[in-house]
Amino acid sequence: MTNNIDIMDELPRDKYGRPITNIRFSLTQQCNLDCIYCHNEGETNSEQEIEEEKVEKIVNVARKRNIRKVKLTGGEPLLRDDLIDIIDSISPHLDDTSITTNGTLLKNKVDSLVKAGLDRTNISLDSLDPEKYEKLTNGGNLEDALDGIKSAISSPLYPIKINTVILDSINVNELDDFIDFAKENDIILQLIEFHDTNTLKNGSELFKKYHHDLSNLEKQLSEKAEKIETRRMHNRKKYFFDGAEVEIVKPMHNTEFCANCTRLRVTSDGKFKPCLMRNDNYVETEDKEIEEAFDEAIMRREPYFD
Ligand code: 5AD
Repeated sequence: MTNNIDIMDELPRDKYGRPITNIRFSLTQQCNLDCIYCHNEGETNSEQEIEEEKVEKIVNVARKRNIRKVKLTGGEPLLRDDLIDIIDSISPHLDDTSITTNGTLLKNKVDSLVKAGLDRTNISLDSLDPEKYEKLTNGGNLEDALDGIKSAISSPLYPIKINTVILDSINVNELDDFIDFAKENDIILQLIEFHDTNTLKNGSELFKKYHHDLSNLEKQLSEKAEKIETRRMHNRKKYFFDGAEVEIVKPMHNTEFCANCTRLRVTSDGKFKPCLMRNDNYVETEDKEIEEAFDEAIMRREPYFD
């Protein structure tokens, strides 16, 4: 019988001893929404999109190194016409295949995604107020996102995670509504600190305007929660409420967040990206064997907040 410790021992590690447990692919920079806070996965825009074949090859290399967990994101991954084919080809080799989506295009796609082998989804939802939602997504329709969430909840993708980026003067005051929403729907809610990756569309002005320190929310959650636990991934705390779980994701200037990072990224144009926050250590894969590039990317991983 394998236990968790054996599995961790078999995984590749970087120079800092951090195991790499998961790969996060950005499949496209295109999105049908235009969220004011979006960091584009720390990428500067590129029109080129990684081909299905290359995703498959990278997953095979990851699999050889005992990595069994992959997340597909964007932009909006549901805009990729070949998303189902990608999931279909990689999921048999993995224990955990998930997507991060804004949910607005999800409603009619849940069945085919599940059939292709999707295990889980994270859905972005930053306001429960239709006007605020429209404003912060630059034209999105809250109902579409809620329809997507409902379809996912009543499918094998349940339990689902909701990603909520906390923005000063926009949604900080919605905490109780979000907790109620999570309780009613038995969802896992991730409250995410706004990060400044230097790839925000409107630069750090925006960050200054909307960044909100989550310590205050953490305090409120610890007072209200029935139970609190700490997760291995990024050492994140989990707060339990009747039927709901709430997590705080606080990466900015957080050495513990970096110390517990177990992720390797692949950009939408197919480069390895060792860190969300940095744009100076990509590993190109055009002119190198993927295996070699993969191992080099692992070796280039360094904690950003040290
Ligand atoms: N800060 C924090 N989280 C962000 N996301 C995108 N941009 C930012 C940012 N600047 C997160 C959202 C989305 C996921 C794909 O990335 O939570 O759900």
